[in-house]
Amino acid sequence: MQRYSDLMRKERRSIAFVPTMGFLHEGHLSLMKKGLEIADIVVASIFVNPAQFGPSEDFGSYPRNIEGDLKLLKKEGVDIVFLPSEKDIYPDGFQTCVELKNLPNHLCGLSRPVFFKGIASVVSKLFNIVKPHYAVFGKKDYQQFLVIKQMVKDLNFDIEIVGAPIVREKDGLAMSSRNSYLNPEQRRHALSLYRSLKMAGEILQSGERNSSKIINEAAAIIKSYPDTEIDYIKICDQENLSDMEIIDRPALMALAVKVGKTRLIDNMILTAQMDSLMSEG
Ligand code: PAF
Repeated sequence: MQRYSDLMRKERRSIAFVPTMGFLHEGHLSLMKKGLEIADIVVASIFVNPAQFGPSEDFGSYPRNIEGDLKLLKKEGVDIVFLPSEKDIYPDGFQTCVELKNLPNHLCGLSRPVFFKGIASVVSKLFNIVKPHYAVFGKKDYQQFLVIKQMVKDLNFDIEIVGAPIVREKDGLAMSSRNSYLNPEQRRHALSLYRSLKMAGEILQSGERNSSKIINEAAAIIKSYPDTEIDYIKICDQENLSDMEIIDRPALMALAVKVGKTRLIDNMILTAQMDSLMSEG
């Protein structure tokens, strides 16, 4: 992989990289499309990274479909698919990790303590292997997107991180490989995430600026669906993820909810109309 990238770079061809864990859906394909738009060559990787799963999480059962993925990537026009083995990434004696100090102490990092360390470490390795000019990340994993941007800045990776918007099903459910865990009934309950975010946006537009009030409304919507368990609902600063009590600037509303045994995440940027904010002084 490194030799191929060296060759492309020598030929002055730009490389966009899209790291994935496979079981690809339209959301992933939108990242590939973005890559094809901005660079000459698109490299996708598929690697289910054991280091980002906790001991009681779904590493063993994480959905996999390499054949199907390769077909989709070929159809999309992706140039190279990098499929490392676990031994390629973590050979015997491997001992180096990348860990961020602050960003992981929020949102998903609190209930998934090894998650961002696993992600930052594997993505650094993949960056050094693929040597891209650009790397594309979906904003459904908003915290991951921030973690990677911070890591690239802190460690001077010469890579431009490009964010891509959430892709949703027609009814609003954010696309995720983990949606495949849901039975039809749970699939309906999973809509509670998007509905609560949408409702939050509407409450904000109606003039409410108090985060706790909006969060309580969102929680009530989710709790009205059976078989749901809220991990967190937060309204926070979209750069450093610290809680915002009053929404006086665009804010990230992010949530994680278990539907049955499946943990789902979603988010939305809440933007109050500035003129109504100004008229409130
Ligand atoms: O977003 C994902 O699929 C993974 O976290 C990533 C970035 C491929 C790292 O394993």
